[in-house]
Amino acid sequence: METLEAIRTRRSVRKFSDRPLEPEKLQAVLEAVQQAPSWSNKQCWRLVVVQEPEVRARISALSFVESFFAVYGYKSNPAQKALTDAPVVIVACADPGQSGDLNGQQYYMADMGIATQNLMLAAHDQGLGSVFVGVFDEEGLKKLLGIPAAIRIVGLFPLGYQAGEAKSAPPRKQLEEFVHYGTWRK
Ligand SMILES: Cc1cc2nc3c(=O)[nH]c(=O)nc-3n(C[C@H](O)[C@H](O)[C@H](O)COP(=O)(O)O)c2cc1C
Repeated sequence: METLEAIRTRRSVRKFSDRPLEPEKLQAVLEAVQQAPSWSNKQCWRLVVVQEPEVRARISALSFVESFFAVYGYKSNPAQKALTDAPVVIVACADPGQSGDLNGQQYYMADMGIATQNLMLAAHDQGLGSVFVGVFDEEGLKKLLGIPAAIRIVGLFPLGYQAGEAKSAPPRKQLEEFVHYGTWRK
């Protein structure tokens, strides 16, 4: 798949079939993360690949954060079931000490944004679905998976074959709404 086509056609997938994931496809997704650019090439990402159904079920339960969803009026995380249904969940973590901290900006989040977009595009390129799940109980997950205190969990990524039809793209802002040419104009 061409890069621009992959960028245009990738969608968040929240419904997964029980079709197993081929190990070579998982490997290709992990290698796409490996190739991401990062602050000073420090490669702060750390991934926990979870395949055991009972652990995925516990991760799914930890993706509901009542205080957060109450504000948005959701009854649950829209991706909660995806975490149990997809055959693989990648828990994307970062070691903030292995990235930059400048002007009050912590660049591990930038490193992780790029790395996880590589993950999602590599999945899509191979006919797989994924979704960035950014709402979860971090402390609960750290305890469940034995993740050290200094490491941050940035996102959860269910990975597998989509069930049902691909969804259409949610609306995007027009370029005029976010691009300024020359200087910042209203
Ligand atoms: C940082 C981040 C956190 C997200 N967290 C969640 C989440 O917790 N649950 C969920 O269902 N989708 C989550 N999403 C997916 C977005 O809802 C989705 O990307 C957006 O609606 C655009 O849809 P698209 O990915 O199909 O283009 C998250 C996306 C990002 C980038």
